[in-house]
Amino acid sequence: MFITLEGPDGSGKTTQARLLAHWLQEEGHPVVLVREPGGTTIGERIREVLHDPAHTGMSPWTEVFLYCAARAQLVAEIIRPALAAGQTVLCDRYADSTLAYQGYGRGLDLDALRLVLYLATGGLTPDLTFCLDISPEEGLARRRAGGGEWNRLDQETVDFHRRVRTGYLELAGLEPQRWIVVDAARPVDAVQADLRALLQARWTGHTPPTL
Ligand code: TYD
Repeated sequence: MFITLEGPDGSGKTTQARLLAHWLQEEGHPVVLVREPGGTTIGERIREVLHDPAHTGMSPWTEVFLYCAARAQLVAEIIRPALAAGQTVLCDRYADSTLAYQGYGRGLDLDALRLVLYLATGGLTPDLTFCLDISPEEGLARRRAGGGEWNRLDQETVDFHRRVRTGYLELAGLEPQRWIVVDAARPVDAVQADLRALLQARWTGHTPPTL
């Protein structure tokens, strides 16, 4: 199964991805956890270029192609081989991030982006995508308090991050069978418990609990 975690900055995806991977492993599902941009030696180099706060003059399409270059490498080197070997792949951000940030955030044409994404991934689509939803204000406050890497995208306006969030919710609405939106403005343990319950429900074919 190919599972992705999406959401605005500060939604806690990375923490949740780590906890979920650990749990899956304990449950007997061999899991490969990767993050975007990055996840490969080449991808991590591209990540440095993308996130350097000094690169303020980067054109929106340069940004798209760099994210997609890192993604193409990740798909070819890690994701496809792992899925072929029967492993579960858990990816912290994937193609939907490009639609949300470069599409809804920067205003690039969504159909053009979908074409580029198709070329980069060969059409590989997640089986399940969790959207960890949080308001830009709360997300930003968490980012400031968390002391993690402060990247180029963090320098964007609150309006930009608001468009990203709206974009995610719209994308989720377009494909409700793939997406599950989870309220991420809650304690880590509560969000994690929901993710596990929802995943288990998917696996066993039961109706997900009302959250
Ligand atoms: P990262 O430090 O991984 O943040 P997070 O923990 O929030 O995922 O930084 C990823 C940043 O790159 C984040 O601001 C979103 C942005 N991004 C895009 O704009 N487009 C993309 O296609 C991807 C994968 C990420």
